[in-house]
Amino acid sequence: MANAADKVLGQFTQEVEEKKVYASKKIKVGIIGTGWIAESHIQSYKRQPDVEVVAAADLIPGKAEAFMKKFEVEGVNFYPSHKEMIDNEELDCVSVCTYNATHAECTIYALEHGVNVLLEKPMCVTIEEAADICRAEKKSGKVLSIGFQPRFDANMQMIKKIVQSGALGEVYYIQTGGGRRRGIPNSTFIEKKTAGIGALGDIGCYSLDMVLNAIGYPKPLTISGYKSDFFGKSLEYSLPENANRFSVDDFAAAFIRLEGGIILDFRIAWAMHIDTPGDTIILGKKAGLRIPSTDCWNGTVGGPMTLYTDLAGERVETVIPIIQNKGPGLFDKKIRSFLDASINGGPSPVPSSQIIINQAIIDGICKSAELGREIEIKIPKI
Ligand SMILES: NC(=O)c1ccc[n+]([C@@H]2O[C@H](COP(=O)([O-])OP(=O)(O)OC[C@H]3O[C@@H](n4cnc5c(N)ncnc54)[C@H](O)[C@@H]3O)[C@@H](O)[C@H]2O)c1
Repeated sequence: MANAADKVLGQFTQEVEEKKVYASKKIKVGIIGTGWIAESHIQSYKRQPDVEVVAAADLIPGKAEAFMKKFEVEGVNFYPSHKEMIDNEELDCVSVCTYNATHAECTIYALEHGVNVLLEKPMCVTIEEAADICRAEKKSGKVLSIGFQPRFDANMQMIKKIVQSGALGEVYYIQTGGGRRRGIPNSTFIEKKTAGIGALGDIGCYSLDMVLNAIGYPKPLTISGYKSDFFGKSLEYSLPENANRFSVDDFAAAFIRLEGGIILDFRIAWAMHIDTPGDTIILGKKAGLRIPSTDCWNGTVGGPMTLYTDLAGERVETVIPIIQNKGPGLFDKKIRSFLDASINGGPSPVPSSQIIINQAIIDGICKSAELGREIEIKIPKI
């Protein structure tokens, strides 16, 4: 997994090409949870000239101290949890880099104490938590951005531009998802008490964001969901120490009816007996778009996209080459856009008003799968 992990993060760590001075007063940042993804946050914050990382918290004694030592950041105060850190520091911003199960409590506590929050994906575990987060954000007037760095990828933006240009006509069917033949992470990702949800939350949230953001995040109406854990729990495919504590999904699929008569057909896997569960396709009345899948589904476009349409009575295919991203890496863009929104009092680059819909679908898939039938989805009032 280490190699796959490095591959995923490697693409987010390009150098900032141009440095600007943004403010005379430094933005005081704290990091909650100093695990794997926090490494990308600290490296990116270090590249921002107007940021001072002043505090870090982790539940595991000594972990935050070792983390800051590794990244050679000095003058940081350390705390045993998010509460002590927020109670004792005058912070402008925090990155919530904890496992999914504590996303909601850390984010809500920070917002209630007037701190802007960059919250790692997925937003949280349940729709109820997502609604509580949105209520805390609304009450606080602070900025909350959810950590979907693929939003800053020019190829992802191209998908949205194509849909919004009207080139596809009215969209009526979408297939999305992806995953890998073998690629179950371990650590905190495989236990319900820390991750809450498995492949569905880890990589499923990206596929959902790719297509839902492109079509303007319509609300889900009904969901028929399925999830399984055959590989994670199997001694044939997992080490005994992992199989014994595996308590989340490693595969999920769903048939989702969205507002506007759009059907969303979704499947995601950390492990399966096939190379890919299919490309992403968006079908419209005028044209269709194919977005190649990747094996390690982390929110990237797997290759040149193809647009299928009729022209002068003939069926034509237009290949859309991969666009090379310019400027800072995607992770730096995610961090910078959050900092800029915090300085300016908004708007949020990746707003909770959209991602609550992503969470409602994930939650709906879990609830429908547990009940074994289709369910109606209601997004809570904020
Ligand atoms: N954006 C991306 O590309 C990306 C990539 C990987 C992971 N993630 C997300 O980042 C999150 C963390 O993943 P990870 O791999 O770093 O996990 P991890 O288990 O390595 O690290 C999480 C850390 O949070 C700490 N923690 C939990 N609750 C806490 C609290 N209340 N106060 C202080 N510390 C607390 C834990 O002790 C642990 O050290 C997950 O939600 C994951 O989905 C995002």
